[in-house]
Amino acid sequence: MRVLVCGGAGYIGSNMTAMLNSEGHEPVVYDNLSKGHIAAVGQTKFVEGDLDDYKSIVETLQKYDIEAVMHFAAFIEVGESVQAPLKYYRNNLSCTQNLLSAMEAVGVEKFVFSSTAAVYGIPESIGGGISEDFPTEPINPYGQTKLAVERMCYYQSRAEKLRYAALRYFNACGAGSNATIGEDHKPESHLIPLTIQAAMGKRDDIKIFGTDYDTPDGTCIRDYIHVDDLCRAHLLVLNKLDQSRELIYNLGNGKGFSVREVIETVRQVSGKDFKVVTAEHRPGDAPILTSDATKVRNELGWKPEKPELREMVSSAWKWHNEHPDGYPD
Ligand code: UFG
Repeated sequence: MRVLVCGGAGYIGSNMTAMLNSEGHEPVVYDNLSKGHIAAVGQTKFVEGDLDDYKSIVETLQKYDIEAVMHFAAFIEVGESVQAPLKYYRNNLSCTQNLLSAMEAVGVEKFVFSSTAAVYGIPESIGGGISEDFPTEPINPYGQTKLAVERMCYYQSRAEKLRYAALRYFNACGAGSNATIGEDHKPESHLIPLTIQAAMGKRDDIKIFGTDYDTPDGTCIRDYIHVDDLCRAHLLVLNKLDQSRELIYNLGNGKGFSVREVIETVRQVSGKDFKVVTAEHRPGDAPILTSDATKVRNELGWKPEKPELREMVSSAWKWHNEHPDGYPD
């Protein structure tokens, strides 16, 4: 299938692009390189463009005769979204509206959207995993903008102008395609790459944002999922969109790890010691986010092939050591 990958130079988008290539699809990457890296795109067809540029999107859809769009291009930092909400509403919501308008104008119907576990806010039943029918009550602008896009897709699909999948990611991590495509955000905000940087001596310490949460060790619990597993689910939904107008799935392992457990795993994998410092809560953080991904297992036969945290961290550790300064650009 000819697939436009918006944000295909970013971490998850570039992993997806590589997988589409290896599975015989024809991806075209559309990215403004504000966060992504051209080196991560490799030999794939590339269009440098903004999602607020309606004309450019329409031209790209037409030029490459695109059949489906995967949309990874978004700002992703929960903490930043609390400080700068309008930045998130503009990039994550307004630009996506623009993209959907361009798709409607050209007649491209299939859309796979990167949503997030942040749409659930602080789930009431925090003991078990979160299933798709849990109430969606985001507690930060990041989650709100993603949910607003889901709603927009819902109404567009009811109007029979869209067939969409909203994939609610838990914590994507690891380096995909045999540890050759890694995570390089500038600035970095995610726990695993930051802890790896501490282990590599590239930062003085790793800060734990809160040790007094109502969790067994007092630190936040998240559900980490290998980026290869995440991308595989996208391929499955892409095929399923022929039969379905609306698909909503959680993508996670169903198992939570605390911040302390992640730090300890990095310590074990790297064999390095580093300083760990307790810091204030980060605004917008939910104490526990773990998935119940039964629906995607039952309906698509998807299940994680790399569910071990150690394996995820090992692939990331390998990539960071082979790219100590990240991507060249
Ligand atoms: N954390 C620290 N120290 C750090 C960085 C993070 O203690 O230096 C903590 C955070 O407070 C949080 C946990 O580590 O409790 C994970 O934080 P990340 O920033 O790695 O990831 P988030 O859970 O905030 O967010 C990620 C994605 C979102 C997605 C969410 C869903 O970035 O897009 O997972 O669970 F919505």
